[in-house]
Amino acid sequence: MLELVNVAKSYESPGTGGTVCVLKDITLKVEKGESLVIVGPSGSGKSTLLNIIGALDEPTSGRVLFDARDLTKQSDVELARIRNRQIGFVFQLHHLLPQCTVLENVLIPTLVDRSHSSKQEAQERAANLLERVGLQDHLLHRPGELSGGQRQRVAVVRALINRPKLLLADEPTGSLDEEASQNIAELLVELNRSEGVTLIVVTHSLQLAQRMGHVMELSGGVLKDRSDG
Ligand SMILES: Nc1ncnc2c1ncn2[C@@H]1O[C@H](COP(=O)(O)OP(=O)(O)O)[C@@H](O)[C@H]1O
Ligand SMILES: [Mg+2]
Repeated sequence: MLELVNVAKSYESPGTGGTVCVLKDITLKVEKGESLVIVGPSGSGKSTLLNIIGALDEPTSGRVLFDARDLTKQSDVELARIRNRQIGFVFQLHHLLPQCTVLENVLIPTLVDRSHSSKQEAQERAANLLERVGLQDHLLHRPGELSGGQRQRVAVVRALINRPKLLLADEPTGSLDEEASQNIAELLVELNRSEGVTLIVVTHSLQLAQRMGHVMELSGGVLKDRSDG
């Protein structure tokens, strides 16, 4: 479903005019329904890699194939469509709109996507998903009235509302306490199984990673298996 072939990414380092190579040579294959966790220390390029996978950023060289289509060759309009329909994102900070209710926040991605047969169908899916994450009594609350863990659950539901094939999560528990982190990790794994959505999580927490699926480590710009520790 997803394949990276010899992906490299470098940035111009400010001031010196030289370049910094963040990703050197990433080759990766992810099958439908898989759950992959990428660990690595801060600054190792995890966000850069996830943004390239999610078509938010372009590699300097190499190819990114999503459903056998090369993302580096698509137009901006097509990339926007793929991002909105096929890919769900969860970030460390939830990026919920403070003035909107929980239900409204979850429905935002549906406003530009016509895959829902009706507004009502989208609302029903939103309410169902919010119930599954235990927020059925918070539909009309605003983000400011929720705990950090609850806000992140709203962000997870919003990421899933358009039934994406791929769910990407960048340090989804990075601003949560231990208990809330575990709950989010369990929720992601549960949704990976029940919704059949392919999951890729990046985190600096190995402990959390090991609960979530196949673990790979990003270090020195390359990705290595570390499923057996
Ligand atoms: N837009 C950018 N311009 C220049 N350097 C960047 C940019 N984005 C990230 N970097 C650098 O790339 C490296 C990896 O960053 P990042 O992917 O955010 O790592 P991680 O998510 O693992 O902490 C860091 O050294 C960072 O400073
Ligand atoms: Mg990061």
